[in-house]
Amino acid sequence: MNKHQNIVLVGFMGTGKSAVGRRLASALKYEFVDMDSIIVSREGKPIPRIFAENGEPHFRALERALVKELAAKSRQIIATGGGIVLNPDNINDFSTTSLVVCLTATPEAILKRVEHDTNRPLLAGGDKFQKIKDLLGKRQHLYDAIPNRIDTTGSSIADVTERILQLFGGQSGHK
Ligand code: S3P
Repeated sequence: MNKHQNIVLVGFMGTGKSAVGRRLASALKYEFVDMDSIIVSREGKPIPRIFAENGEPHFRALERALVKELAAKSRQIIATGGGIVLNPDNINDFSTTSLVVCLTATPEAILKRVEHDTNRPLLAGGDKFQKIKDLLGKRQHLYDAIPNRIDTTGSSIADVTERILQLFGGQSGHK
């Protein structure tokens, strides 16, 4: 029996959580759960509208409630939103039952991946690269506090997935 019931991917926007998560889910035959997508479908509006109409605190409360719901379930690969680390309770709850892995990337790599995206309100308007660097700077200590970290800069989705599978198998006797 695997001591980790889920794999939870955290990390800044554009670090590959959803792409890697999908691939991990198909490799392990686990359910892929994208937290942002669930929030969007339950609220019936895209993330920029949730932020604009209801405010970021409302979004964080929805995130918090969803963490509690998902942490109680098993056999899921969970892609979180980049701000999940802002509330330490989120990481604590996931860590009790799941392998939590933080994906990282340089600000340059992040910019390349999110450059043409219009769905991330915290990076909208103005100098995107500066916004990435500022927000990353503010949150760096929170991402650094996660023991399992994988730098995705210059790595393929397949490579990152493989490394997480090794971590998962190695730590909990999976296979
Ligand atoms: C956010 C990241 C986004 C989304 C929201 C806020 C953040 O998710 O949850 O726009 O605070 O970093 P991704 O990391 O999937 O882009």
